[in-house]
Amino acid sequence: MDRFSFFKLSMFLALAIVSRQAGAAPKASLATFSEAAAPAPASEPLFENFTQSLVYGGEYSTFIQLLVDTKLDVTLQTIANDTEGPGLTIFAPTDAAFELKPASSLLQNITESQKTTLIEYHALSKYQAFKDLQNSKNNVTSTYATDQNGGGYKLNLTFTGHGRLEIKSDWTTALISTTVYTGNSVSVFAIDQVLLPREIFGLPAPPPSPKAPASPPPTSSSPPKIPET
Ligand SMILES: *[C@@H]1O[C@H](CO)[C@@H](O)[C@H](O)[C@H]1NC(C)=O
Ligand SMILES: *[C@@H]1O[C@H](CO)[C@@H](O)[C@H](O)[C@H]1NC(C)=O
Ligand SMILES: *[C@@H]1O[C@H](CO)[C@@H](O)[C@H](O)[C@H]1NC(C)=O
Ligand SMILES: *[C@@H]1O[C@H](CO)[C@@H](O)[C@H](O)[C@H]1NC(C)=O
Ligand SMILES: *[C@@H]1O[C@H](CO)[C@@H](O)[C@H](O)[C@H]1NC(C)=O
Repeated sequence: MDRFSFFKLSMFLALAIVSRQAGAAPKASLATFSEAAAPAPASEPLFENFTQSLVYGGEYSTFIQLLVDTKLDVTLQTIANDTEGPGLTIFAPTDAAFELKPASSLLQNITESQKTTLIEYHALSKYQAFKDLQNSKNNVTSTYATDQNGGGYKLNLTFTGHGRLEIKSDWTTALISTTVYTGNSVSVFAIDQVLLPREIFGLPAPPPSPKAPASPPPTSSSPPKIPET
């Protein structure tokens, strides 16, 4: 092989390796970029800062603010740091999701402790990659907000094919829109709706019956009625 074709071959291989790595885990390398700047001893485990991955994502400022307000950024990071533990899966609503009804009205008036359980409701107490979630079919699953006895704050996960993973809460059906981060003990997925549990907001009013009398439709943008529980 002459020098020129050897050069071409090496370039090809180098490019192939670079594009492979880029394809394999673009978000992971993004999220750990700043750590990479200060080389750590090889033995030190990778620090998977999930809040950082959300910052880089660029469209999760409301969710990040809630994580910080409730100090769950630290609590959940402690779990993510425990590489021997079950890990964590986080569903992060985009900023646009927080603007949508009913979330935009229901969230106006929640207490600090409700804020905490609301964010806990957006995390599963187990690391799941997207390929794990793809096996879901009507999987009614506990969240980090669910109590020790397995009560309350459930989500219903269903993979409907074509990359569509539905996450049903009592008020909303969210879809995973993208993987924000996936590492060894924590994964973060973007969702297009805020997950709203009955334990905080009650159940939504049933849809009006089709044979309702000819009363004028509600004109105000008042929030849906929450039944007494
Ligand atoms: C993790 O990332 C967040 C957001 O960039 C940052 O505020 C925080 O200091 C980081 N945590 C650590 C321990 O580096
Ligand atoms: C997680 O681990 C990193 C790296 O060891 C550390 O800087 C950070 O403080 C840890 N965060 C928590 C909440 O334990
Ligand atoms: C918000 O909560 C306060 C205290 O519980 C209550 O008095 C007020 O009516 C609520 N406002 C709305 C818009 O629900
Ligand atoms: C349901 O989801 C949970 C994650 O919260 C997972 O641990 C479990 O394996 C799933 N079950 C099935 C049958 O897919
Ligand atoms: C879970 O969601 C699926 C469709 O997404 C639905 O068919 C099923 O009834 C739901 N199950 C429960 C227990 O909510």
